[in-house]
Amino acid sequence: MFKQIRKKDFKIAISAFSLLLFLFIACTNHQIGKENAPIYRNGMVVTANPLASKVGLEILKKGGNAVDAAVAVQFALAVVYPNAGNIGGGGFMVYRSSTGESNTLDFREKAPEAASKNMYLDSAGNPIANLSTEGHLAVGVPGSVAGMWQAHQKYGKLDWKDLIQPAIKLAKSGFKITQIQAEELNSEDSIFRVLNSGYGYLVNEKQWKKDDLLIQNDLVETLKLIQEQGRDGFYKGKTADLIADEMMRNKGLITKRDLVNYQAVWRKPLIGNYKGYKIIAMPPPSSGGVALLQLLGTLENYPLAKYPFHGDSSTQIFVEAERRAYADRATYLGDPDFYQAPIKNLLSKSYLKNRMNNFSFDKATPSSEILAGDFKGKESEQTTHFSITDKDGNAVAITTTLNGSFGAKVFVKGAGFLLNNEMDDFSVKPGTPNMYGLVGGEANAIQPNKRMLSSMTPTIVEKDGKLFMVVGSPGGSTIITTVLQTITNVIDYQMSIQKAVNVKRVHHQWLPDLIYIEKDALDSLTSQKLTHKGYKILERGNIGRCDAILLNKWGYYEGGADPRGDDSKMGY
Ligand code: GLY
Repeated sequence: MFKQIRKKDFKIAISAFSLLLFLFIACTNHQIGKENAPIYRNGMVVTANPLASKVGLEILKKGGNAVDAAVAVQFALAVVYPNAGNIGGGGFMVYRSSTGESNTLDFREKAPEAASKNMYLDSAGNPIANLSTEGHLAVGVPGSVAGMWQAHQKYGKLDWKDLIQPAIKLAKSGFKITQIQAEELNSEDSIFRVLNSGYGYLVNEKQWKKDDLLIQNDLVETLKLIQEQGRDGFYKGKTADLIADEMMRNKGLITKRDLVNYQAVWRKPLIGNYKGYKIIAMPPPSSGGVALLQLLGTLENYPLAKYPFHGDSSTQIFVEAERRAYADRATYLGDPDFYQAPIKNLLSKSYLKNRMNNFSFDKATPSSEILAGDFKGKESEQTTHFSITDKDGNAVAITTTLNGSFGAKVFVKGAGFLLNNEMDDFSVKPGTPNMYGLVGGEANAIQPNKRMLSSMTPTIVEKDGKLFMVVGSPGGSTIITTVLQTITNVIDYQMSIQKAVNVKRVHHQWLPDLIYIEKDALDSLTSQKLTHKGYKILERGNIGRCDAILLNKWGYYEGGADPRGDDSKMGY
């Protein structure tokens, strides 16, 4: 009897303790987030698509680490999010291990060996419309499969084959497309037909509608080759033959030699500090890390939190810092294997301080008018980012892309996947804006085997020697400012990670000399004040689509999945 009572008491005590623990977690979460966001102890995956997030989560639950989950997600996104998820594109990975080791992997596309500086110019030296953005000549040598293979070789725990299997399953059984996906596929229907003469991949005679099943049988066969042979399943043999044939038939430049020679490259991370936080960022050939650290280094000189969020003063500080950082980007940054950027100087505290010497809160500093560019505004900024953390505290930030939505709109006939239009990220002609309105010069001029400059900004933030945030975004030229705002929203404005991702964004990129805002990002009084000071403001569609994870001070993961898309966060 006595024993029974003790047992019962024990059970009651356990229940009371569990309830208290639950309330404690709920309350602490409330304190941080001011909202009831789910939090997880063992791992978290935030991606642009719920099916891909689920794939990543399952891998974590099977005992895979963050890199295993990232590999599986990259291949899953190639199936369920063909606008940007890819095996025919490239990207960057920033990695931080549970013990604090950091590393970055560059699996950016590169120019084919036969590429040349003026390949997109006519005889008068003017860019030929659409040549660097659509069709076979726009394609850079893909890097994603090599990247995933090298990441797995170095850090992976589970068997490679098990990481490709979920993507194969999704491609074989098919998945129901969303309304947004149906509309996007239909809007590209005519260009798909023009560029892919008779190959029916992603083309639907009756037009796509929501809940149609997308089955990708050719992609299944390509993924099986990659599953069996690793990188060789893509860069050699049947897949390489199909890519080279596709190029040869259509005056593209990529050869089997380009493919077999492609290598992803481990690069030393760019490390910076912002108000006591350590920033682990991607070095060139992405401009993302340099620009982000320049921006944070400039903002650090201002007590941001004292200025109202999205008020005229805080907006001016961001805009003026961005104007200067993007001007440097255009001049100094390119593939480090071809062009030595003066990174140390660009990031020096005194340089960044001096850069703002001519800034006044009274009026806008006009951008140079000599190289004035313009958004062509006809391409969406379709890249994708995912953030993953595991139970041991390893973290991965990957941003990957085909460049424009559905890349070059070119399918590899018989292999069932899309190719990128990344060649447009080179400076096709000095001073001529690319499809994001970005200008560039010699540093980013086209050369054989050179990597084109990127804006992708996968980033990991540390606090007191521990993981703090994993963050990144698509958005072409707006990637950098989206990541910047997400970080400062958390650090300076004390927002929860979900709120930091949700709030409206503002963007400036030197040229064109405009403040781009999402609808209602600035109230009308702020807009009036800024206009009075000489700023030009232009409302546009979504800026960025940020997917982030924060490790809170109690050791739980919180996610921020961007509501601008179908993005989803899952954890356990
Ligand atoms: N294609 C977009 C970027 O790399 O910045």
